[in-house]
Amino acid sequence: MECLKFCLVLSCWIKFANSVFSSDANQAPASIPIGKLLVLTVATEETDGFRRFMQSANHFNYTVKVLGMGEAWKGGDVGHSIGGGQKVRLLKEAMEALADQEDLVVLSVDSYDLIFAGAPEEILRKFQQSNHKVLFAAEGLIWPDKRLAEKYPSVRSGKRYLNSGGIIGYAPYINRIVSQWNLHDNDDDQLFYTKIYLDPLKRETLNMSLDHKCNIFQNLNGAVDEVLLKFGTDRVRVRNIVYDSLPVVVHGNGNTKMYLNYLGNYVPNAWNYEHGCSHCEDDILDLSQLKEYPNVLVGVFIEQPTPFLPEFFQRLLTLDYPKDKLKIFVHNNEVHHEKHIEKFWEENRNAFDSFKVVGPEENLSQGDARNMGMDLCRKDAACDYYFSIDSDVMLTNRQTLKLLIEQNRKIIGPLVTRHSKLWSNFWGALSLDGYYARSEDYVDIVQRKRVGVWNIPYMAHVYLVKGSVLRNELKERNYFVLEKLDPDMALCRNAREMTSHREKDSPSPESFHMLRPPKGVFMYLTNRHDFGRLISTANYNISHYNNDLWQMFENPVDWKEKYIHENYTRIFTENYLEEPCPDVYWFPVLSEKFCDDLVDEMEHHGSWSGGKHEDKRISGGYETVPTDDIHMKQIGFDKEWLHFIREFISPVTLKVFSGYYTKGYAIMNFVVKYTPERQAYLRPHHDSSTFTINIALNNKGTDFQGGGCRFHRYNCSIDSPRKGWSFMHPGRLTHLHEGLPTTNGTRYIAVSFIDP
Ligand SMILES: *[C@@H]1O[C@H](CO)[C@@H](O)[C@H](O)[C@H]1NC(C)=O
Ligand SMILES: *[C@@H]1O[C@H](CO)[C@@H](O)[C@H](O)[C@H]1NC(C)=O
Ligand SMILES: *[C@@H]1O[C@H](CO)[C@@H](O)[C@H](O)[C@H]1NC(C)=O
Ligand SMILES: *[C@@H]1O[C@H](CO)[C@@H](O)[C@H](O)[C@H]1NC(C)=O
Ligand SMILES: *[C@@H]1O[C@H](CO)[C@@H](O)[C@H](O)[C@H]1NC(C)=O
Ligand SMILES: *[C@@H]1O[C@H](CO)[C@@H](O)[C@H](O)[C@H]1NC(C)=O
Ligand SMILES: *[C@@H]1O[C@H](CO)[C@@H](O)[C@H](O)[C@H]1NC(C)=O
Repeated sequence: MECLKFCLVLSCWIKFANSVFSSDANQAPASIPIGKLLVLTVATEETDGFRRFMQSANHFNYTVKVLGMGEAWKGGDVGHSIGGGQKVRLLKEAMEALADQEDLVVLSVDSYDLIFAGAPEEILRKFQQSNHKVLFAAEGLIWPDKRLAEKYPSVRSGKRYLNSGGIIGYAPYINRIVSQWNLHDNDDDQLFYTKIYLDPLKRETLNMSLDHKCNIFQNLNGAVDEVLLKFGTDRVRVRNIVYDSLPVVVHGNGNTKMYLNYLGNYVPNAWNYEHGCSHCEDDILDLSQLKEYPNVLVGVFIEQPTPFLPEFFQRLLTLDYPKDKLKIFVHNNEVHHEKHIEKFWEENRNAFDSFKVVGPEENLSQGDARNMGMDLCRKDAACDYYFSIDSDVMLTNRQTLKLLIEQNRKIIGPLVTRHSKLWSNFWGALSLDGYYARSEDYVDIVQRKRVGVWNIPYMAHVYLVKGSVLRNELKERNYFVLEKLDPDMALCRNAREMTSHREKDSPSPESFHMLRPPKGVFMYLTNRHDFGRLISTANYNISHYNNDLWQMFENPVDWKEKYIHENYTRIFTENYLEEPCPDVYWFPVLSEKFCDDLVDEMEHHGSWSGGKHEDKRISGGYETVPTDDIHMKQIGFDKEWLHFIREFISPVTLKVFSGYYTKGYAIMNFVVKYTPERQAYLRPHHDSSTFTINIALNNKGTDFQGGGCRFHRYNCSIDSPRKGWSFMHPGRLTHLHEGLPTTNGTRYIAVSFIDP
């Protein structure tokens, strides 16, 4: 007695129970041979969930018999309402043949939402230890008839109510239970078993109990907080931290399907720290073995002004995939981008099998447009894949499309993330009300610390769907629009219909253009490769002429790729710079694109100063050596230009004038225009700077003749400036210099007087 009182402390109770079990086991009859365990499950279709179930069963070598495959499902919409009688009927039929096998242990389980986490030996041992002939799974929530709660025997600790998703027992006993079935296929199976269990006489004669503490069966409904992943060297298990048990069968009943999907990304051996992903190579489709590449419809969605759109299209063009197998559908919602699309179309209209654009004049809602794209593939029997990509996805990996096809899943997206942010194109979990929730593994997946193919609840921006799936599982789905509802509400309702009533779902408005899997189809995200990034469309001011020039803060990686000279970094790695005159350094810094865009921007602005001595733009209003110029400030580019100086010029200064630490500060930043008609040259002068940069913005020969720069003290001229290359020289005392005459055409340079 004393011990029992003491043992009311939970952990001690467990120790006590374990010791009872193990001492029992010492005297117990020999363990049941694994050949005596038969798993029976009902599945009418080979859903993704069923395949996952079989994968886990095969991993442990369970002997599984599948009942009902190919039969039409008549068991009602389980989860929506009552139903599931078909399962009992099929089990009853199967048990008739097994009824007299007294030592056979039958494990009857669901399969669409269930995973094995442990081996047959373990199930049999735990079943024997329970000392009953029949054991049902238990859960903390009562279903379907709450009024029966009081009839349940009370339990001191553990789950009180029966769940019919898992039953284990000796064949004759199971048979005696299911042979009582005489109801319809759409009657409720759980209610049927519950009534038998709640009958005290039957409970005793059939020697039934519930697995109250989840030794064998873990139902996740209402118990998500009780379980954790437990990583072992070979296997990953689920641990129930309330009962300190390691359940063998994990069941995502009720609204926990997505949580089971998360667990299934690990359990029993899908991914662990030692071996990484173990099913990533399963079912791989080897494209090189196909006679022909599959036909892909690419749906491109430009729903808001998007920086770097020409680059986006360029990446589409350079995807490593036969272009004659690609049809392009573009929805462009922005008048601003019509010129970009037109340009791309003119240059590449014949590159693809077809190229269709729906422009802003159609006034299509985003939802309508996305439906239209998906439908084009759905309705075309020759469309093998639908590849949906938004204009803010920069696919830097040219193999992306091939890699996704080869992964061979119904729906799969590549991981893309905002540069150096945790922002990505998927959600690892949902909150109870359907909003974003951070899964335990989200950060590791985004940062590619865990690499694999992940079953996830939501994704957006870029994904690949099999055409066959659009014509089957997703046949009726009008994902993005519903009746006259606005798109968010449409998605909410669609999402609700895709899942069950017992789930509380109301996805957030942001999720409206996200793809959410319907019942039975798993949606995967792969981070096995670096695929690319998401760019930011926030703060994209399209009131300039070449708006991407201003994107250096919002999208620094894409800005640098577009606007910094491709050999810039070689300055530091290979000393890639020249010294044509003493202390005049010459190095590549801006791309041709930058030079062109800046010149166009200035010409678009158009108010060249005319090279007069009177200049209102500067303090004092008088310029002794005036040029024909436009200041960066006049086009609103001064903040960006100073940032450019600090990011890209300062490191070069430090390299060539070592020991001098520039403040990277400049008041005079401007573009100069030399032409024979207006101002052709600049007389010798000093600059009001510690040092000056002078960047050529166009090409001698093609754009102008003449030009160049002469340093008097050294009698040294540089007369073949290179576009995108900068001079850097001291401004005062030693480097008196002049601008040599431009004899034909127009020459542009960008100049800054740094540290004045
Ligand atoms: C399953 O069986 C195969 C061959 O029969 C064997 O190699 C493997 O080790 C078994 N796996 C387990 C978990 O028992
Ligand atoms: C159930 O069967 C076991 C033997 O398998 C027996 O020890 C136990 O007493 C039985 N329990 C009931 C309630 O009949
Ligand atoms: C575009 O459609 C919206 C609603 O879908 C409507 O309110 C708006 O007036 C339409 N605009 C034009 C120009 O047709
Ligand atoms: C966009 O740029 C223009 C021109 O520089 C400026 O007038 C305007 O304030 C900017 N808009 C925003 C939202 O920053
Ligand atoms: C960068 O350097 C390589 C090798 O010297 C050269 O071929 C290439 O044209 C350079 N790139 C540019 C933009 O000048
Ligand atoms: C300057 O250099 C040029 C040729 O490079 C030469 O002809 C000229 O005499 C030099 N002038 C002086 C003052 O050294
Ligand atoms: C000046 O440039 C134009 C075209 O850029 C060319 O047609 C013309 O021949 C050039 N004149 C001289 C004198 O080089």
